[in-house]
Amino acid sequence: MAKRYYWPKKAIFLITTLLIFMVIVMSAFDREVPYTKDDQTHDSIASVTAFTQVYKVLMSPRCMNCHPSGDVPLQGDDSHLHTMLPRRGKDGKGLYAMKCTNCHQPENTPGVRTPPGNANWHLPPADMKMVFQGKTAHELARQLVDPKRNGRKNMAQLIAHADDDLVLAGWNPGEGRTLPPISHAEFKKAWLTWIRNGAFAPAP
Ligand code: HEC
Ligand code: HEC
Repeated sequence: MAKRYYWPKKAIFLITTLLIFMVIVMSAFDREVPYTKDDQTHDSIASVTAFTQVYKVLMSPRCMNCHPSGDVPLQGDDSHLHTMLPRRGKDGKGLYAMKCTNCHQPENTPGVRTPPGNANWHLPPADMKMVFQGKTAHELARQLVDPKRNGRKNMAQLIAHADDDLVLAGWNPGEGRTLPPISHAEFKKAWLTWIRNGAFAPAP
C-alpha cells in the first residue's frame, strides 16, 4: 500500500523537475546574445535620433556661415553673403588683398559687428568645399562619412573633429551673435552617439 503512494509522488517530482529544466533551457535560447566588450552596438534609431541634434547645429549660422554652397562666406544670423565679398580661393584662406586673416585676428575683436577671431580662420578648400548650406539631413549625413567629401577623414578623425578649433569657435562667436542651439557638450555627445551607433543617415 505504501508503495502505491510512493511512486506517484516520485513521478510528480520528476515531471516538475523536467518542466522547470525545460523552462530554463527555453528561456536561455530566447535570450539575446549578450554584448561582448568590443561589441559595436549599431543602434540605427539611436544613431538617427542623435543626428537630428547634430544637424540642427551644423545648419545653425555659426557653422553654416563657413560652410556655404558658393565661394563667399556668409554672415549674421540670417546668413547673408559676407560684405565686400571675400572669396574662398584655392586653400580657403581668401584671395589677393582679401585674405581672411587680414581682418579675422587670432582672438575675437571686441565690439559688435566685428570679425570673430581664430588663428586658423578660413573656409574649406576649393577642391573639398564641405558644403552644409542647402543640404538635407540625409545628404549631409552621407557627406560627413564619405572620405572623398569630408576632407579625407576616417572615423577616428571624424570623432576627433568634435573638438576642432573652428568647431569650438562656434561657441565663442563674439558679441551680439547667437550661440548654436545646444551646448558644445551636448553636441559632442550627439556627434559620438551618431558615429558610434553606425553613423546612419536619416531617411531621404
Ligand atoms: C571659420 C570657418 C569655420 C567655422 C566657423 C566652422 N567651420 Fe567647420 N570647417 C571649416 C574648415 C576650414 C574645415 C575643413 C578643415 C578640415 O577638414 O580639417 C571644416 C570642416 C568641418 C567638418 C568636417 C568636414 C565634413 O564635412 O565632414 C565638420 C564636421 C565641421 N567643419 C563642423 C563644423 C561645426 C559643427 C561648426 C560650428 C559649431 C563649424 N564647423 C564651424 C571651417 C569652419
Ligand atoms: C575686409 C575684412 C574681412 C575679410 C577680408 C574677411 N572678413 Fe569675414 N568678417 C569681417 C567682419 C567685419 C565680420 C563681422 C560682420 C558682422 O558680423 O556683421 C566678418 C564676419 C565673418 C563671418 C560671420 C561669422 C558668424 O558667426 O556669423 C564669417 C563666417 C566670415 N567673416 C568668414 C570669412 C572668411 C572665410 C574670410 C576669408 C575668405 C573672411 N571672412 C574675410 C571682415 C572680413
